[in-house]
This record gives sequence, C-alpha cells and structure tokens, in this order.
Amino acid sequence: MADALIDAALAARAHAFAPYSKFQVGAAIEDSDGRIHTGCNVENATYGLTLCAERVAIFKAISEGVRKFRRVAVAADTDVLTPPCGACRQILWEFCGDVDIILVNPRGKTETYRLKELFPKPFDASYL
Ligand code: THU
Repeated sequence: MADALIDAALAARAHAFAPYSKFQVGAAIEDSDGRIHTGCNVENATYGLTLCAERVAIFKAISEGVRKFRRVAVAADTDVLTPPCGACRQILWEFCGDVDIILVNPRGKTETYRLKELFPKPFDASYL
C-alpha cells in the first residue's frame, strides 16, 4: 500500500552519513497536521557522537516548533527489520508517546509496532 511516510523514510536513508558503519538508516515522522519530518543517521569519527536517524528527525521537528506526532517510520536495508535503538525509544516516548512505529526495508517489507510494545516500561515525566 502506498504510504508517503514510508517513502519519506526510504528517501531520507539515501542521505545517511555513515562512512564508519556503512549502515544507512532513514526515519520519517508524521505530525498531527500530516506534515512529514525526516532524518538520517549522522556518524562521527569519534563514533560516540553519532546520532541516529530517529533522533535527527524528531529534533528537527521539535526545533521547528512541532509538538504533536502521529506515526514514525524507520528504514534500513535488513531482512529482519531494524527497530529504533534504546536511546531513540526513550526520546520518541518523550515526544510521541504510544504511536505506531513502522519498520521498513527497501524491498517493501514492513512491520508495525506500538512504541509501548518496543518500550514497555518507559521512564517519563510522570515519575518526576
Ligand atoms: N542507527 C540508526 O540511525 N537508527 C537505528 O534505529 C539503529 C541504528 C544508526 C546508528 C549508526 O550510525 C548505525 O546505525 C549503526 O549502528
């Protein structure tokens, strides 16, 4: 089924700066107005400063004033579809809550999870 969010995640992947891992990831996040915000992973020679595609996408949107999100898509070229890392699950929870996370590869395989399934006991502001 055609889905602009999936297409955007796959397209964002082409911009990945991943000379060290060679593992290219794209992410796309749909906001409550239906706009799509994209990101790719951006690596660094110090390795530890690498930012994942998901965090680049959400921080881009947040920095433009967007605060409500509906869905997230993550694209990588793996047959077992690539999920967001733990750090990205925490950040996505902060801004998106229990949204659909759509995993996709370039061969059209997709799987959809609720963020709560991937991140069942999140720490958030409710504890503070
Ligand atoms: N990476 C992401 O961008 N998102 C994920 O969901 C998994 C991992 C990146 C980080 C690093 O640049 C490369 O993939 C290998 O870990």
